Amino acid sequence: MPGNINFGSHPQNAGETMALRLRGALFVLACGTTWGSEPTLRLRNGVEMPMLAAGVWQYNDTEAEASLVAAFKAGFRMVDTAWDYHNQVGVGRALRASGLPRGALFVETKVPGCGLDPAVSRSNCFADTRRVLEGDLQQLNQSYVDLVILHFPPREAFVLRSCHFSCGAVRDQWAALEEFYKAGKAKAIGVSNYCPSCFACLDGNATEVYPMVNQVSYHIGMGPDASGFFSFAQSKGVVLQAYSPLGNTPWTEKANPDILGGNLTSTLAAAHSVSTIQVALKWLVQHGLAAVTKSSNPQHLAADIDLWSWNLTAAEMEVADNYRVFGMPSFACNFADHAAEMLV
Ligand SMILES: NC(=O)c1ccc[n+]([C@@H]2O[C@H](COP(=O)([O-])OP(=O)(O)OC[C@H]3O[C@@H](n4cnc5c(N)ncnc54)[C@H](OP(=O)(O)O)[C@@H]3O)[C@@H](O)[C@H]2O)c1
Repeated sequence: MPGNINFGSHPQNAGETMALRLRGALFVLACGTTWGSEPTLRLRNGVEMPMLAAGVWQYNDTEAEASLVAAFKAGFRMVDTAWDYHNQVGVGRALRASGLPRGALFVETKVPGCGLDPAVSRSNCFADTRRVLEGDLQQLNQSYVDLVILHFPPREAFVLRSCHFSCGAVRDQWAALEEFYKAGKAKAIGVSNYCPSCFACLDGNATEVYPMVNQVSYHIGMGPDASGFFSFAQSKGVVLQAYSPLGNTPWTEKANPDILGGNLTSTLAAAHSVSTIQVALKWLVQHGLAAVTKSSNPQHLAADIDLWSWNLTAAEMEVADNYRVFGMPSFACNFADHAAEMLV
């Protein structure tokens, strides 16, 4: 089943510490397959994807490299970058500096939505997407990536807050991704910030390979099925991957104060002798979402990946599910018209 959590055998990594193995043992025994210390989610094509990735948005090359070197030391094995982050050269350096075999790492990157970056024009969507996909590999200095996703729907979707009138562009761009996947240059392909109406463009016979992942904004305080995105993804066999899981924004560049120091996360953290940030991340992965977080602080990274030896109780999950503060999964969607969106 796509999206199942798996804990069976997967290549273990040279740098994994005995302490992490012991701490993870309880979780692994309960369910089975890991990637390093982490459980994985199985994508619809059978690829196993670690549940938690280290992101690098808002970092330059040097910052991205430093944060990922620290993330690998802390036990992260998956990274998330993008053409638009302008730091893939630094990410590539960190991959090599890790000293880990390529097969022990999981690399995710993105291509800008058509018309949203000068490199991928709206008028030449297919050919530009092809070129930028090759550019991703060149910048990362890799012969393949594990997952590449379309960063956003095409430009019109932002204006109209729906993909209803831009299916042509959605299909053109997806066709370039499919070609890249079939050439073996990506082990899996997916989308980001995609609304149900964008998925509708790829339904039926429109495409041979369906998206495997949708990466959207998602965090504690949105509820367990924010705007129906989780149940929609499940109904399509798509893994939902949370970005900005600590409520970071383009303006703050920090974890959100309600998550970092709010009553709910503080109470749950005290009950498990963990941090508020760990509670926020645990809530996501315990619901079966993948997540991408980020930190420039080695101590924070070590704590952020330490999620596998403890669980929130069912009662605590329910309280956290009912907690509502802020946020929506995709700013490209028309949430006022969400009932109509979900019917497409
Ligand atoms: N597809 C998309 O459109 C999209 C959009 C946004 C993000 N993303 C991806 O998702 C990744 C994560 O989202 P995000 O960058 O918005 O960040 P986030 O995970 O929501 O929050 C990161 C912030 O939390 C802080 N933090 C992390 N661990 C902490 C800890 N243990 N204690 C205290 N503070 C902690 C970090 O500060 P310190 O450095 O001080 O630890 C950092 O400022 C991005 O980097 C990117 O890869 C994708």
